[in-house]
Amino acid sequence: MSHAPANDRLLRALRRQPVDRTPVWLMRQAGRYLPEYRATRARAGSFLAMAKNPELACEVTLQPLRRFPLDAAILFSDILTIPDAMGLGLYFADGEGPKFERPVRDAAAIARLGVPDMETELRYVMDAVRTIRRELDAGNGVASVPLIGFSGSPWTLSCYMVEGGGSKDFARIKAMALNDPAALHALLSVNTDAVIAYLSAQRAAGAQALQVFDTWGGVLSPAMYREFSLPYLVRIARELPRGEGDARTPLILFGKGNAAHLEALADSGAEAIGVDWLVEAGEAARRLQGKVALQGNLDPAVLYGSPDAIRAQVRAVLDGYAAGNGGSREGHVFNLGHGMSPDMAPEHVAVLVEAVHALSGRGS
Ligand code: CP3
Repeated sequence: MSHAPANDRLLRALRRQPVDRTPVWLMRQAGRYLPEYRATRARAGSFLAMAKNPELACEVTLQPLRRFPLDAAILFSDILTIPDAMGLGLYFADGEGPKFERPVRDAAAIARLGVPDMETELRYVMDAVRTIRRELDAGNGVASVPLIGFSGSPWTLSCYMVEGGGSKDFARIKAMALNDPAALHALLSVNTDAVIAYLSAQRAAGAQALQVFDTWGGVLSPAMYREFSLPYLVRIARELPRGEGDARTPLILFGKGNAAHLEALADSGAEAIGVDWLVEAGEAARRLQGKVALQGNLDPAVLYGSPDAIRAQVRAVLDGYAAGNGGSREGHVFNLGHGMSPDMAPEHVAVLVEAVHALSGRGS
């Protein structure tokens, strides 16, 4: 961890220090939109086989960095590794997304859950972090950039664990919130302990920044978000050990639909807040008041636009952020407001990344 990446724009921006250009990385930057990803996945046989093999996880993590001058790598894995290690039995039914063989539906099932051991049950994740970090530091044909580790939020993990997979209406978990809130709090609590242990272990293995994905926080009413998601994000931000000063490992709290809660998130203790595109970057910057960095927030669908349209939309996010941040680009990490889709064109990703760097040079 003493080894600083040659390109430290991401870490400097997350600390709100000056940088020459705004750093950029993209959620789901490794994925099915890349032909080389599809080839590796075919070789592995399945997404899970690939994620559980540290060499293949490393290979797909580095694939987007070989194509684009991105300012960070993100561990190739999944948020559902934790509930899988808790014994729920993760699987992917073709074309249906993630599912669990043994969802948790009542207090008795929740009481049986425990925090998995990070260096045995989740060793494959830590081995992937160590392998990727070694390759990034060695610079074998890839730029030396920081490695981001990640976890799902306690609420978002609970959604999958209770629903048994993806959901449109979140009926089961919302019913639990209403009918047996103590059981849900017990689930959120064990998940929070697991997330803190998981992120700590990734940091020890070599992750240089950490992101929590609260993908489903935005399906909660504000009052329910304040009861079932926010307090657990705050506990992670306060309790996750991550060093001091320039050696501190920054924590990014990303949430879909978190715009109603920016003031509370700015006071959470996290170093950065990630937002989707339903709030303007300038408004988000103003409301965060310079207390934390902002990550985001281009609508991923902009990648379906023409190169000129992409450049115009990139400029709007960059300049909107600066306008809301007292005229300064400091403290901004450029990203999409959510992950990329398999039908996006790699050529358009190249346009986006180059536009961020070209349009954010200091003095521009
Ligand atoms: O950003 C990156 O490049 C890192 C990789 C990453 C994946 N999943 C790889 C993946 C990350 C950060 C995740 C997190 C994740 N997983 C989230 C939170 C982020 C978000 O999107 O809000 C969620 C909700 C999941 C659960 C999950 N895993 C879903 C909904 C899916 C998609 C299923 C599908 O068929 O599209 C997955 C599988 C998954 N995770 C894929 C990838 C690249 C697709 C698997 C494939 O190759 O078929």
